[in-house]
Amino acid sequence: MRRRYFLKRTIKAVFASIAGVSSFIAALFIYPARVRQKEITMYECLTEEELPRRGVRRLDIEIDNKGRKTAVFIVAHADKCFALSPVCTHLGCLVSFSRHKNAFICPCHGGKYDVEGNVIGGPPPRPLAQLPLMVDKGKVYVGLKV
Ligand code: FES
Repeated sequence: MRRRYFLKRTIKAVFASIAGVSSFIAALFIYPARVRQKEITMYECLTEEELPRRGVRRLDIEIDNKGRKTAVFIVAHADKCFALSPVCTHLGCLVSFSRHKNAFICPCHGGKYDVEGNVIGGPPPRPLAQLPLMVDKGKVYVGLKV
């Protein structure tokens, strides 16, 4: 009788452990989906007069009152003005703009993007992400998911 009781308790403990581990794994899959649901917030970054007329300008935008910053590129090219994310679409390193090569260069694996953010070399699978950019009452705002 004691042996049967012990076996029952052991089997219940094993099933409880399996249920606990399964719940933990499920939570790991659900958590990133919640992170992706972040909303876009518009941050003031320039005045309309400060918008570049030609070329690429990097801005560091303060995203909270603790001094955290994130970078964006404001690009004026072919009569268009748009904002690009500096995050490489390969593995997430931060690209920099080379005026000499007129291209965004990723230091990690040699990814290259043209001035519009299109991939022109290396392993990146997609163009740089375009960020929302708007002008309102003389101020320029860029949209970020932070
Ligand atoms: S992270 Fe940019 S090329 Fe790999």
